Amino acid sequence: MSKHHQKVVLVGDGAVGSAYAFAMMQQGLAEELVIVDVIKERTVGDALDLEDALDLEDAQVFTAPKQIYSGDYSDAKDADLVVITAGAPQKPGETRLDLVNKNLKILSSIVQPIVDSGFNGIFLVAANPVDILTYATWKFSGFPKNKVIGSGTSLDSSRLRVALGNKLDLDPRSIEAYILGEHGDTEFAAYDEATVGGVPLKDYAHNKGVTDSDLADIEDKVRNKAYEIINRKGATYYGVATSLMRITRAIFRDENAILPVGASLEGQYGLDDIFIGTPAIINASGLAGVVEIPLSDDEKAKMANSAKTLKQVTKDGLA
Ligand code: NAI
Ligand code: LAC
Repeated sequence: MSKHHQKVVLVGDGAVGSAYAFAMMQQGLAEELVIVDVIKERTVGDALDLEDALDLEDAQVFTAPKQIYSGDYSDAKDADLVVITAGAPQKPGETRLDLVNKNLKILSSIVQPIVDSGFNGIFLVAANPVDILTYATWKFSGFPKNKVIGSGTSLDSSRLRVALGNKLDLDPRSIEAYILGEHGDTEFAAYDEATVGGVPLKDYAHNKGVTDSDLADIEDKVRNKAYEIINRKGATYYGVATSLMRITRAIFRDENAILPVGASLEGQYGLDDIFIGTPAIINASGLAGVVEIPLSDDEKAKMANSAKTLKQVTKDGLA
């Protein structure tokens, strides 16, 4: 059973962090939300703004005192979850991997004081390149691998389901399809195992006149959607904030939900010593197990390529 009082420490109160904090307040998911950022004034202002973001007509709100305040790393000592959104975002034309050096530096200045506070909860990492920063959080913290989760391809898989829903005229929640691999340019859609109402997705699509080439176009659009958004509005944040909130809910409600996240692999897909996007079981203990999709040969090659890219950049970044 999940504890009655759930406490989150959010590190990074920028576009992603504040959108996540708003989503958390709307859902009433945490009794205590501490906001940490190097720009202290922003966290004070955000906390004051967000405390009025409770739905006071929602009976749920009155069942748990909601505390939201500006804090620091020492507040993590009795926290259940630390969410890391602190880091520079991509500029137009920048890849996520281009952020690795500057964001590893930021990350290293965060994880150690969190560990020093006596924190022994779960890390949830979103800052990019997220798979590498999730790996680095594990390395820097010395925490068990199941207590370090990345947002991985959660956002990408939502993007895929939304795009397929639009194309097939279906509720995206009825589409079981995943983006796997790097949260980045080497990600891919595991179409060969995707299903719609128990029917293989590709069969359903073909019956609707949607070709494999159409599906490939959708995959490409999903892979590049962040660039599309960043070129237009400068950053993306609502989608990832919702993915982070969803993962938080699975932890806080001890759901055993299967979600696409950045998970540590130990032999799955023939890979180890890596955090990468795959479905995994999420509950109050953190990551309770990886659900390995039985990939086709073509997809196995794509996963291996994605892992190779991540390992190379991780090796260079952490050298
Ligand atoms: P932002 O620039 O709006 O916010 C970053 C925040 O981090 C700022 O408030 C900054 O003051 C803070 N910060 C910087 N150094 C810090 C430190 N040492 N300690 C505490 N706070 C610190 O950027 P945005 O748009 O919120 O993006 C944040 C990160 O999330 C970026 O790396 C971005 O690429 C990533 N992201 C990841 C996604 C995913 O699916 N995993 C999706 C969208 C963004
Ligand atoms: C995204 C980038 C910013 O997928 O990671 O939105």
